[in-house]
Amino acid sequence: MQECAFNQNPIGIFDSGVGGLSIVKEIRKKIPNESIVYFGDTARVPYGTKSKETITRFAKEDIGFLRSHKVKIIVSACFSVSSNALPELREEFDIPIIDMISPGIEALRDKSYRKIGVIGTNATIESGAFEHELKRNFKNIKIYSTPCPLFVPLAEEGWTNGKVPQLIAEKYLSPLIQKGIESLILGCTHYPLLYSVIRKVVGDEIDIIQPGKEVATLIKKSLQDRGQDSENKGSLQIFLSDIPRGFKRIATQFLGQNPGQIRLAKLSN
Ligand code: DGL
Repeated sequence: MQECAFNQNPIGIFDSGVGGLSIVKEIRKKIPNESIVYFGDTARVPYGTKSKETITRFAKEDIGFLRSHKVKIIVSACFSVSSNALPELREEFDIPIIDMISPGIEALRDKSYRKIGVIGTNATIESGAFEHELKRNFKNIKIYSTPCPLFVPLAEEGWTNGKVPQLIAEKYLSPLIQKGIESLILGCTHYPLLYSVIRKVVGDEIDIIQPGKEVATLIKKSLQDRGQDSENKGSLQIFLSDIPRGFKRIATQFLGQNPGQIRLAKLSN
């Protein structure tokens, strides 16, 4: 009886801001039975320009908030956190934590690419986390990575099509295309919103990997392995550490639908 009740506990998902709702959108499509409590640290976004130490400290506080909602598993939707703080977070918390690096690796498992491109924030690319995991999992591969910091404000402004994003995408991606990459990992919560412009720039031959589309499989497996998956219809609760200007428009863009009520969260730090 008690076990069943625990299964209904939500998944806790956090990100530096509202960008992680792009990951929530994919998770809800694939595992609609799971309830979600989302926390976006809008008061302190961006994380992608911050140091490893600060990102780790913030992420610990974010998880602390989610734990107060009795979540059964945590998803670090933020790639900057996933690439900079995972070992420290797993050491600190005795709850399963799903990261955003592993789904990218899993998506490449059955392919035999030799040249892989990775894009993300400065924090993600400088951490070398994707590179490390790719090399650990696949032999004889070459990795070409570059930060694309301007993609974040473009996505938030809704400038996802037209000349400006196209020129910026060409500037960032041309060096990777010239290296002959066969696949490109979109290593940031914001980049799926720029998918069509990125596709236009890289052409049809390059396999674009969106870890957000793969992560639900890992969450589901982790829950099933512990007999903790839910069979009921899931709900979504969204908490932000600040209610920023334009939050509703931005949240709708990332979630792909009206986010409903958004509540202010108070972090205890
Ligand atoms: N959510 C961040 C990430 O996926 C992007 C925004 C930020 O820099 O905080 O890395």
